[in-house]
Amino acid sequence: MAHTEERTFVAIKPDAVIRGLTSTIIKRFEDKGYKIIGLKMLMVSPEQAAKHYEEHYGKPFYDRLIRYISSGPIVAMVLQGYNVIKGVRQLMGATDPAEAQVGTIRADFAQLKEYNSVHGSDSAESAEREISIYFNPEELCTEWKNMTELVTEKEDFI
Ligand code: RTP
Ligand code: MG
Repeated sequence: MAHTEERTFVAIKPDAVIRGLTSTIIKRFEDKGYKIIGLKMLMVSPEQAAKHYEEHYGKPFYDRLIRYISSGPIVAMVLQGYNVIKGVRQLMGATDPAEAQVGTIRADFAQLKEYNSVHGSDSAESAEREISIYFNPEELCTEWKNMTELVTEKEDFI
């Protein structure tokens, strides 16, 4: 069976951005080999927050969740790789940092379930939906050449 790469949406939540953990968390994903094909820092608008978390509307923690995600900048990313949706969830760890395995992002950098530092899509459908909330298609970088292709291109070097 052929393997095809997937895409997922990842956000470094405001507490982690403000604590200066952006590069540390991105490194976890890059070290795994996932490609970053979209990346931006932004303040989540009320409309984006409502769309992102619509499945949680009406739950007891909903208002706090919206307040948290809107409390400062997030770093939004689209990652591409094999089984990246599941893999990112594994690297993040359980929703509650107190339950997350040591070595996961949430266990290592967060303390509370409602302030758990990272978000990752939970399915292919969620990934497509969430990517479209935060990125226009033209903002994603989907074409690149590797070094070998570059150096073998027939061109005179000066
Ligand atoms: P996320 O969507 O942020 O990647 O987290 P998740 O899939 O692991 O968890 P989910 O059930 O989708 O919940 C979304 C976010 O809501 C907060 N939450 N609080 N107090 C609670 O029981 C509770 N449950 C969830 C967390 O910030 C969680 O990441
Ligand atoms: Mg979720």
